[in-house]
Amino acid sequence: MTDISTGSGHGPSENTPAKLGYSPVADIPHRPRVADTDPKAARRAERQVASMFMLSMLFVVLFIVAYIAIDKSATVYVPVFGAVGAMNIALGFTMGVAIFLIGAGAIQWAKKLMPDVEVVQQRHDLVSPTEATKEAAANYERGKEESGFARFKIIRRTLIGAMVLFPIPLVVMLRDLWISPPGNPSPSELLTTTLWEDGTRVVTDATYLPIRPEDIPVGGLVSAAPADLPEVQEAEHDLNARGKAAIILVRMDPAEIVSQQGDGWDYQGILAYSKICTHVGCPIALYEQRTHHLLCPCHQSTFDLSDSGNVIFGPAARRMPQLPIGVDAEGFIVAKAPFAEPVGPSFWERG
Ligand code: FES
Repeated sequence: MTDISTGSGHGPSENTPAKLGYSPVADIPHRPRVADTDPKAARRAERQVASMFMLSMLFVVLFIVAYIAIDKSATVYVPVFGAVGAMNIALGFTMGVAIFLIGAGAIQWAKKLMPDVEVVQQRHDLVSPTEATKEAAANYERGKEESGFARFKIIRRTLIGAMVLFPIPLVVMLRDLWISPPGNPSPSELLTTTLWEDGTRVVTDATYLPIRPEDIPVGGLVSAAPADLPEVQEAEHDLNARGKAAIILVRMDPAEIVSQQGDGWDYQGILAYSKICTHVGCPIALYEQRTHHLLCPCHQSTFDLSDSGNVIFGPAARRMPQLPIGVDAEGFIVAKAPFAEPVGPSFWERG
């Protein structure tokens, strides 16, 4: 049985404990807040809270301005971290302040304007009797009234405004997933353009040593990269090139190859495929040599590498892109052409 007796607190002006149905808690002296007794202070607090919500809106706008105006490659020096992307700093700062101001405004609202009431509740059985359920519903209605959501019109409107604007930064950032600015390459073009070209030597992903066909036994898998990856990565200071160019080499009996994405794209049973899952981009190297299945650990998409890398299970909607390979004059494995289709996730197809 719930027994709620509530104490000596009170809300601003008209919301006294008596009006709200509370009884005082005898041994807890209650000190009214300034906003409880002074209507001017209450209005001041209201303006403070509304200002925070309005400032939050302003920072969301600044977030969008920073996203549009700051050059993606611009950096600033930050002690300890070194050179950091200026846009990342600006986006992080503006979004952080926008969130902080919504939180701070809500706290100020609760501290200064919502009723200041002590509540005592007896412990009771876990299963609530009907009266308690009704009482809970009544408490909910009372809470609605106490919070002043209906009464403080400016706060309500500015909070709604801040909450409506808040998701905009997410939409702005996600926009890049399907819309390319005019004159820029589309996501599909960007993902098709990798470091692989005709003659690019294939090296191991860890040591960057070139690979000969005899280094890969039948049933073996090697994670590999283009030979010029280290220099490109050094110059570009990011991992985009590595992410797009990562491949795996697998070797199987040529008689077991059912189909390929192009005629003669293997070299003596060695096949090269992108290592990046076409679902949402996890790197894959779980290979079952007996079935020639490549299994993505993230959501279990499975690709048959002996049959053009086609999807045989899971959420991936597109086969694994294959890279045509051969050997150069020194007997090392090289690419014979760039990828013919985009590597990585297929989000761009939804546009
Ligand atoms: S990322 Fe590979 S199945 Fe989802």
